[in-house]
Amino acid sequence: MEAIVFATNNKHKIEEIQAILGNYIRIIPLSETGCTEEIPETSLTIEGNAVQKAMYVFEKYHVGCFADDTGLEVEALGGRPGVKSARYAGPGHDFDANVTKLLKELQGQLSRRARFKTVISLVTRDHEMIFEGIINGIITTERRGKGGFGYDPVFIPDGYEQTFAEMPAELKNAISHRAIATRKLVSFLQEQYNKK
Ligand code: IMP
Repeated sequence: MEAIVFATNNKHKIEEIQAILGNYIRIIPLSETGCTEEIPETSLTIEGNAVQKAMYVFEKYHVGCFADDTGLEVEALGGRPGVKSARYAGPGHDFDANVTKLLKELQGQLSRRARFKTVISLVTRDHEMIFEGIINGIITTERRGKGGFGYDPVFIPDGYEQTFAEMPAELKNAISHRAIATRKLVSFLQEQYNKK
């Protein structure tokens, strides 16, 4: 059976993708490679960070690997917070402070258009690939909903009335930026490994 590392320690993300892929390819968590150090994420772009993480694991541990990186790009802010989405309001992952800062920066702006972008980088002996998932929408003027995480309470995807945080999780997880990028990765892996 083929095996491939997902450069994350998020068990939930691993289980989710393993379930979609079935059992002809095994997804290995980062912890099983012996990688306990923090993988550098120093790029100035979302793509760059995804590639940096996957390449780091491939080169250091000699295993096929994929890695993801996500950001929220807001039109009126010239694409910010983008690659800095997790630490927009300062170091750490304070989702609430990030949302407060975003709403403040958008006060008085004409456009509230934004998009979530996920990039998955896959690096194996045979391939170097990028899979992208984008969902467009708008930023609300105040928080709505209790579900999800991060910027979910202030993001309404185009074609819907609810924020990501108001939607049932199954709906968000079916239409999200991450779902779109993941589906592209999965169909590539299925094509590659099913035919062997
Ligand atoms: P990561 O690359 O998946 O760690 O995402 C970086 C940051 O983007 C997170 O810390 C969140 O602030 C934000 N983010 C990523 N995905 C989502 C999402 O699905 N909803 C809301 N915020 C998200």
